[in-house]
Amino acid sequence: MAVALTPLSIPGRAGQLVSQLGDRAELHDVYDETGSRVYHDVSVRDTHEVRELVALVRRIPGAVLELAAGSGRLTMPLLALGREVTAVELSAAMLELLSERLAEAPERLRERCVPVQADMSSFALGRRFEVIVLGTTSISLLDEEGRAGLYAAVREHLAPGGRFLLSTVDIVTPDDPEAAEAVPEAVIAAVGAGGRAYRMHDYWPAGADTRTVTIFPAEIGDEGPVTVCTTTVGVLPVDQLGAELGRAGLTVLSGHPLPGAWRYRDVLLEVGVTA
Ligand SMILES: C[S@@+](CC[C@H](N)C(=O)[O-])C[C@H]1O[C@@H](n2cnc3c(N)ncnc32)[C@H](O)[C@@H]1O
Repeated sequence: MAVALTPLSIPGRAGQLVSQLGDRAELHDVYDETGSRVYHDVSVRDTHEVRELVALVRRIPGAVLELAAGSGRLTMPLLALGREVTAVELSAAMLELLSERLAEAPERLRERCVPVQADMSSFALGRRFEVIVLGTTSISLLDEEGRAGLYAAVREHLAPGGRFLLSTVDIVTPDDPEAAEAVPEAVIAAVGAGGRAYRMHDYWPAGADTRTVTIFPAEIGDEGPVTVCTTTVGVLPVDQLGAELGRAGLTVLSGHPLPGAWRYRDVLLEVGVTA
């Protein structure tokens, strides 16, 4: 079902394109029933941060709690480590995709995964975990109040000596700030796992504290409906995140740079409870 998005919700060239499409544009949130299938198709083969995350988790024995697990892009490699993984996800559509993947996975992986529909900013699972993972810079999906809830819940669920591993953006100072200012929107071509070609618009004016990602089919014909999926998320730079974690009684122990993208690179943080 299309959500209450309007072409005005989408800034930049992506918004102009949606306006030109008029009634033909069927707007979806990236994590609704239609959007989650597009997101899954585009991202399922993406190996971004997998190697670095797996290397850190390997060093910490025990059960894993993965937050914002989506359709399991990170869940499957975590299960492959031989760990028990509790996968928390808010979207029923995403959880359905995760269940479909698990159903096709070997039983030795499937039997160690516990999918849970819950909000990462407020959950109570009644047990503790040696490792809590929040990848794919998904912390940026929460507002300040949501993040405060997340930090409290993480403290409640982290075993003594446990680690919270999360990624966020590390904004890179451009070599030529004027040139970067002039390009608020990157357009990226992508081919999904199912062979469909997409064009992703990443709209993020320099200094803005939100960015909007909008996914179109790469080829748009002259007639018929066009599925357009969009999401607007906050940008939470690593310094701000570190300060927030500190106020919540959590300490950043180490930071691991991840391969970069347009105007930013992600960083994977290893966080413990402040002694
Ligand atoms: C960027 S995707 C990442 C999914 C997966 N980790 C991956 O790497 O593909 C973010 C996920 O967070 C989920 N999500 C959004 N808000 C959430 C919340 N408050 N609690 C739990 N999950 C949430 C979305 O439905 C989506 O599946």
